[in-house]
Amino acid sequence: MRIPLFVGNWKMHMTRAEAEELLISLKEKAGNVEGIDVGVCPSFPYLSFATELLVGTNIKVGGQNMAWENSGAFTGEVSPVQLRDSGCSFVILGHSERRHVFGETNEMINKKVKRAVEQGLNVILCVGEKLNEREQGRTEDIVNSQLQAGLKGVDISMIDKITIAYEPVWAIGTGKTATPEMAEDVHAFIRNWFKTEFGKSAADELRIQYGGSVKPENSSQLMAQPDIDGALVGGASLDAESFTQIIFSAAENKQE
Ligand code: PGA
Repeated sequence: MRIPLFVGNWKMHMTRAEAEELLISLKEKAGNVEGIDVGVCPSFPYLSFATELLVGTNIKVGGQNMAWENSGAFTGEVSPVQLRDSGCSFVILGHSERRHVFGETNEMINKKVKRAVEQGLNVILCVGEKLNEREQGRTEDIVNSQLQAGLKGVDISMIDKITIAYEPVWAIGTGKTATPEMAEDVHAFIRNWFKTEFGKSAADELRIQYGGSVKPENSSQLMAQPDIDGALVGGASLDAESFTQIIFSAAENKQE
């Protein structure tokens, strides 16, 4: 039985005061949910602050990105060692905004994935096609190449550190969500890919989150799909009530 995982990707939103308000509210509403894993990814300056505020809860803190080196002359970058030191237990890598706004390649993302795992961080590796790629019928090709390249050199012994987030780029922040059936097709494809590469038990245990305009109104239907194991939530995670409703949508469908 896979435990669903819900992560709030705050992106470049929230001041310290706003972050405090949101975290206090989230702590009250969903601080100790059982049978569901919850995480938040504030901006770098607030990671330690969030970790301290969330002591005594089950909510984990993660980075939105990181460098592929542990230290060195990399102005403007944050290393996995520093993420760990700030209380993070996981990191989002290969988010479409990193790929398409900041030009991160599959090769860069692969170096980050390996480094994060080496440093003991869990990884949420994001994959997903752009609208024109979907229209050209290339969704599976794109996801396949992002998985192949992103996980190159990742050994089966490390695979329990990896979660995949399927985020169709055309659904992120646009209000357009993939239908539950469209999402399920790609999730099933990803699980099958893992089965071929890493075997059945790794595939059965792999958590695959959906991301892209997930809201309280659509989360139940998405979570009802057999291969959707939680969500990576942007906009709706900035409101404690919405994020909590999304988290509890899994309770209806995924808990025993
Ligand atoms: P959204 O973002 O929920 O605002 O569409 C999701 C994401 O980018 O992870």
